[in-house]
Amino acid sequence: MVNKNSLSVVILAAGKGTRMKSKKAKVLHTVCGKPMLYHIIKTAYEISNDITIVVAHQKESVIEQMDSYFTDLKWCVQDMQNFPGTGGALRGINIKNEKVLILNGDMPLITASSLDGFLTSKSDVTMSVFNLENPDGYGRVIIEENEVQKIVEQKDASKEELKVTTVNAGVYAFSASLLKKYIPLLKNENAQKEYYLTDIISMARADGVKITPLLVEEVYFKGVNSKKDLADSEVIMQDAIKAFWMNNGVIMQLPSSIYIEEGVVFEGECIVENGCRITAKSKIINSHIKAHSVVEDSTIKDSDIGPMAHIRPDSYIQNTHIGNFVEVKKSSLKGVKAGHLSYIGDSEVDEGTNIGAGVITCNYDGIKKYKTIIGKNVFIGSDSQLVAPVTVEDDVMIAAGTTVTSGSVKKGSLAISRVKIKFLENFYYKFFKK
Ligand code: UD1
Ligand code: MG
Repeated sequence: MVNKNSLSVVILAAGKGTRMKSKKAKVLHTVCGKPMLYHIIKTAYEISNDITIVVAHQKESVIEQMDSYFTDLKWCVQDMQNFPGTGGALRGINIKNEKVLILNGDMPLITASSLDGFLTSKSDVTMSVFNLENPDGYGRVIIEENEVQKIVEQKDASKEELKVTTVNAGVYAFSASLLKKYIPLLKNENAQKEYYLTDIISMARADGVKITPLLVEEVYFKGVNSKKDLADSEVIMQDAIKAFWMNNGVIMQLPSSIYIEEGVVFEGECIVENGCRITAKSKIINSHIKAHSVVEDSTIKDSDIGPMAHIRPDSYIQNTHIGNFVEVKKSSLKGVKAGHLSYIGDSEVDEGTNIGAGVITCNYDGIKKYKTIIGKNVFIGSDSQLVAPVTVEDDVMIAAGTTVTSGSVKKGSLAISRVKIKFLENFYYKFFKK
């Protein structure tokens, strides 16, 4: 068990992320539905009570978004103008404990247990390394006589150094006093004219400090610098999320085609077929989500959904059958059958009700949205429209093809709106001149 009060964590999140080629700050790009920075802050909270996040680029939106997930975050604003770079980012930090863990904000895959080695290390400097076949983008770790000598950034590396496949993963544990000593001594004499945190390694080494390298795994320590890295990280995190739920009893068919966001919860016996997407805080309880359905931020209990159904946010579906090409939005359905081709929006539908093929709740008049309330044991014939606001009481029949505009349909009644059918004999032959 970690002592959360003996470790401080600093997360570097001030950079622009130029290689992402995006207007959005890099750390706000999402992996499995949440910003990268969210994932790393969540992990940091598992091991420390003193977390500082360094921000600068788009700091207002970074702070606003993270404040919506966490309370009492401690922010430090980097002076980008005068001290750019990961070393510059550390100048303003104010840390409480003698041991400091530094994390790059672009490492969303880190878990608390993958940081164990840093927490137990007694060394003044412990740094993460991994070996990659393709080290492109990472700082190269130069090891001589079995000792780490320095980290060379890709842009500053010689031809020989570029061939080194041992790279800096971007996580470091320092003793706070050592860190405080070297931060002001950093210089920006390099290709990017930036203050590199990584230069602390060679400076400390020159002073005889032993640098302890810790071998880590890419599945936890991958840095995200480009959209390709973002996609690769998403695959790794998806695999972990799905493995977790399968190990907790969820059946997934062709799991590589299924997308489940961080925050989704399954309970009881659930089946998710291929091609499904389940997002945000969705809760799936004893239910079967059939192929290529999308469930967004909704609760599905004792129900079957799809194939190819779309359940949009804030829906609550219980004891219900939803068939193909049915879209439900912000609606509560309990004990309902909606088998085919319907739109049910801003609605409440009660037990025993059958919604025929092609039924539409017309919830929007171009200005405002209105509610549709449908009672128990209502039979709604195919291709009917319910123009909201409308209340259909219990035990009602609505004839196929009816447009309900009355605002309410009384208990026990039939609603029918139809033009009487005409038959024109031999019309076909006259029309096509046959
Ligand atoms: C950094 C390391 C590199 C390592 C790699 C691992 C340095 C100089 N290089 O390179 O050795 O292999 O991480 O992923 O540290 N940031 C700031 N302020 C800045 C610049 C960056 O807070 O002025 C933050 C960024 O928001 C980001 C993190 O620091 O979260 C790392 O910055 P990035 O530009 O991605 O560094 P890398 O080039 O990946
Ligand atoms: Mg990076």
